[in-house]
Amino acid sequence: MIYPIVKFGNPVLEKPAEPVTVFDGDLKKLIEDMFESMYAAKGVGLAAPQIGISRCIAVVDVTFKEDPAAKLVLINPEIIHKEGRHAQSEGCLSIPEFRENVTRAKIVTVRAQNASGKWFEKTGDDLLARAFQHETDHLNGKLYLSHISALKRDLIKRKIRKMVKAGEW
Ligand code: NI
Repeated sequence: MIYPIVKFGNPVLEKPAEPVTVFDGDLKKLIEDMFESMYAAKGVGLAAPQIGISRCIAVVDVTFKEDPAAKLVLINPEIIHKEGRHAQSEGCLSIPEFRENVTRAKIVTVRAQNASGKWFEKTGDDLLARAFQHETDHLNGKLYLSHISALKRDLIKRKIRKMVKAGEW
């Protein structure tokens, strides 16, 4: 099932998500639906709040279907190590049509549970490190807008308000 993507302005995007405690068939089905929804929206990462579900679940595939082994499920993730700095243009499915340069750690280790509840650690660099940070932020109720200057953030918010008024958001 493909879920519609929740856009900026919906409060579900700006509150911390609930930790996952039950690892059952329903969770596995939701994860499948999240991958499906992410691919349909042409994204390389998706957090559950972005489909209106306030639970600590994110899916990532920085290869966008190229490598099945690159499909990652992050449940209750936490960034446990960060190294270096790297600025790159970043977007978010919940803030379509906007992109900004965001400086983040270049190398990151995430600790998370998989769909069966097993804990694992994974280290990624560049785009994967960015995805780990971006998606973990989502689950903490944080958007990339919080990492850019107030000036740029206000400009984007103003444009979005206009689009909302025009019924284009
Ligand atoms: Ni996002």
